[in-house]
Amino acid sequence: MTSSNHHHVSHIAIIMDGNGRWAKERGLPRAEGHRAGAESIREVTEACIELGVKYLTLYAFSSENWNRPKAEVDALMKLLDRFLDDKAAELDKQKIRLQAIGDLDRLPAATRKRLDRIQERTKNHQTMTLVLALSYGAREEITAAVRAIAKAAVAGEISPDQIDGELIAQHLYTKDIPDPDLLIRTSGEMRVSNFLLWQISYSEIVIVKKMWPDFRQADLFAAVEEYNKRHRRFGAL
Ligand code: FPP
Repeated sequence: MTSSNHHHVSHIAIIMDGNGRWAKERGLPRAEGHRAGAESIREVTEACIELGVKYLTLYAFSSENWNRPKAEVDALMKLLDRFLDDKAAELDKQKIRLQAIGDLDRLPAATRKRLDRIQERTKNHQTMTLVLALSYGAREEITAAVRAIAKAAVAGEISPDQIDGELIAQHLYTKDIPDPDLLIRTSGEMRVSNFLLWQISYSEIVIVKKMWPDFRQADLFAAVEEYNKRHRRFGAL
């Protein structure tokens, strides 16, 4: 007898890699790759809604990305501004909540303001949550958590004996978000690159060869199928 055991995917995290190479292959400036990558975000969001995925977390800008040439950082911030301006109405219509995680104080004031406004405006939406990791680094996130917990201990608010995994998780940017079931990285690279290090402890990882701007709904469905295959158990276990 065969029994199948589907773990529903409720949270997908994606490292959107390969925009620069996609552009280079076409003789285009890198910023064009990022622009094309923004379209893939729309595709993947649609696919997640179709699948009933409740959280989609995208690595849009890492702590390390601040070290790129100023022109590229500026282009990415401009793209983010435009993304937020263009998507606001669509997020409302589809009842998608937008949440940003990362060291958001480093973002330009105008970008920060847009983010605050759109997060406030969409905070009660229930279809799914689109989490944008911006100025995000997992080591930085864990370091900030450790600092906050140490301060609470020194202030006598908690005892060191009370520090456990749950308390640490509650001090991360993702405190209200379940851990990802599936982590996807595009462009074939097999690295985690300082993304959600605590949260992906038990996530399945799927590496996709395509560059991010070429990633389409069918590619997301295929990654979820791969996830399901890994979780399908035949016979009693
Ligand atoms: C990685 O490609 C991608 C990024 C650093 C930025 C991701 C941004 C987007 C997909 C579009 C912008 C959308 C928002 C919401 C800001 P890479 O530049 O590292 O590519 P490479 O490895 O080929 O150089």
